[in-house]
Amino acid sequence: MKLGRLNHVGVATPSIPDSVAFWREVMGATTVHDPFEMEEQGVRVCFVDTPNAQIELLEPLHAESPISAFLEKNPKGGQHHLCFEVPDIEVARAEFEGQGRRILGPTRIGAHGTPIFFVHPKDMGGILTEIMETPKA
Ligand code: CO
Repeated sequence: MKLGRLNHVGVATPSIPDSVAFWREVMGATTVHDPFEMEEQGVRVCFVDTPNAQIELLEPLHAESPISAFLEKNPKGGQHHLCFEVPDIEVARAEFEGQGRRILGPTRIGAHGTPIFFVHPKDMGGILTEIMETPKA
């Protein structure tokens, strides 16, 4: 496993506008990207830049969204996952599979337009972990 940089911390929220206000007013964030929808994942996504990584705000689009289930347990939202970059997504996936760690679904294109997959928190020290191929550009 070649561990790359921490790309982002995923944060579930019932309201992206309320969370953006928090990150701007309390945390001093100055760069907030335009929100967009990922229909297949049932989420609206908004990236907030920090000097060395991003915060990925995730708001459910509907009740069947996986973020809706998270918000049922944590109504005010909270930390949802960590995302680390790797140089080669297929190599990384094969390694996790070879270790018997549970990968959640197929490798797919993530919010940054590069391939990603998720590894089950119970096999990752309690942390839902997103593995993302480092953007080429
Ligand atoms: Co993410």
